[in-house]
Amino acid sequence: MNENTQPTHAEGETAEELRAELKNRVNNRSHRPNSEKFKEFMTSNWEDRKDLGIVAGDFASFTPARRDAVSAAFPGERLVVPAGGLKVRSNDTDYRFRPHSAFAHLTGFGTDQEPDAVLVLNPTFDQDGNPTGHEAILFVRPLADRNSEEFYADSRYGEFWVGARPTLEDVERLTGIRAAHIDSLTDVLSKDLGPGHVSLRVVPEADAEIEALVEALRAEAGFDVASEEATAELAELDAKLAEVLAEIRLTKDDWEIEQMREAVAQSIAGFAEVVKNLPRAVEHRRGERVIETVFDANARLEGNSVGYETIAAAGDHATTLHWITNDGKVNEGELVLVDAGVEVESLYTADVTRTLPINGTYSDIQRKIYQAVLDAADAAFEVAVPGNKFSDVHAAAMKVIAARLEEWGLLPVSAEESLSPEGQQHRRWMVHGTSHHLGLDVHDCAAARREMYVDGVIEPGMVFTIEPGLYFKSDDLAVPEEYRGIGVRIEDDVLVTENGNENLTAALPRKPEEVEAWMASLLK
Ligand code: GLY
Ligand code: MN
Ligand code: MN
Repeated sequence: MNENTQPTHAEGETAEELRAELKNRVNNRSHRPNSEKFKEFMTSNWEDRKDLGIVAGDFASFTPARRDAVSAAFPGERLVVPAGGLKVRSNDTDYRFRPHSAFAHLTGFGTDQEPDAVLVLNPTFDQDGNPTGHEAILFVRPLADRNSEEFYADSRYGEFWVGARPTLEDVERLTGIRAAHIDSLTDVLSKDLGPGHVSLRVVPEADAEIEALVEALRAEAGFDVASEEATAELAELDAKLAEVLAEIRLTKDDWEIEQMREAVAQSIAGFAEVVKNLPRAVEHRRGERVIETVFDANARLEGNSVGYETIAAAGDHATTLHWITNDGKVNEGELVLVDAGVEVESLYTADVTRTLPINGTYSDIQRKIYQAVLDAADAAFEVAVPGNKFSDVHAAAMKVIAARLEEWGLLPVSAEESLSPEGQQHRRWMVHGTSHHLGLDVHDCAAARREMYVDGVIEPGMVFTIEPGLYFKSDDLAVPEEYRGIGVRIEDDVLVTENGNENLTAALPRKPEEVEAWMASLLK
């Protein structure tokens, strides 16, 4: 920092003190009394707490197998899986809490559960020091006593402000995992694992404070955390943990599949609400917002939220792949691409796209483009079966897309040449991939290795999207005018079964005539 930017502050005040003081200024607007008499009055004369009625979660019989899979990959190592903390949206206002997906997967915790919690898989050993598995301990910040200041004065965690959080007993009953106070985390993490067992891994980018704690413990254990080489080595340890946590999610258990079905059902209900509100959208100067808010309201009412920002893209906006501004007009005669998914309370999400004719009927050119995309999707479904490679799904869709573009005279080369690795000209009109895994994250299992994901073999229990599209921008001089300003994507969620696959989103019409009939039935 040079002289000109040196802040002025009281002599002797350290930067840290200054920061603390600035943070404290939030109290400048507070009228809350803090006399001893007030504290005494606030913390006394409360009825005993009622039992919150928390029972074992139906997920609790599925999560042990998930933890066992992680345990098997890291014998003798201590594994740290943070939920993450509350994130500031602005000043003293936080975003609604959502735990890290790896934490949700291994604990079963869902909506709003549980800021600052940390799951530790602590290795166990036999008498000879051989690893025998892991014991799970869930460190949480339990509900504070009513005689604490937190009870009434802490706007982030206090019962007066955010309601009663679970006690340690509640957490144990709900998850079936031993619970401990978060204040005992450091002690447990710093316990010696015995000679030859120093390894400690933490999920990266879940909780900066826990990562800092792990770094401090590594330094204490004699690791040279300052050297670049050692830091890279440690980062690799943690990245490997993230990789395994992603890869164990590539196939879903029965409980997860139930959650996906519910997310899909609620998403389909949301699409029906959108159609019913299309006349209102056409009337409004920001009709896309009508679509967004109708879908999102249903998601919030019937699930936890949306799994990602809703894309409500009318006309040429549909050619912008992640159009989430959603402030455009919705005009009769155009298409509207709606890409939206409900995330249920367990945090599993659907990811669905339909491209609808705003006036209820596809024009000839719209229908021609729509049918090509549908044919590509159907070809992808054909090969989305056990034993094939994940990349076969994309290849099958691209074969159809390239063939149609050739047929229409839009490709500057043959479809065959375009499909070669050196060509790929057809991708000008579909730059995104055809499929991604789906689950707790909309783009699930992203940290999995290439050989397990794109180059991996399709297995029963996998859930992924099939979502080909064609997007002709309004200023694309490479296509005749009639194509310009039309974007179509059809996105379904597929469950791979023992012998084939099931389209989880099949109840939402896909064929153009079925879409038209469905819209007509909702709009009459
Ligand atoms: N909604 C994001 C995607 O389809 O991948
Ligand atoms: Mn998708
Ligand atoms: Mn999508």
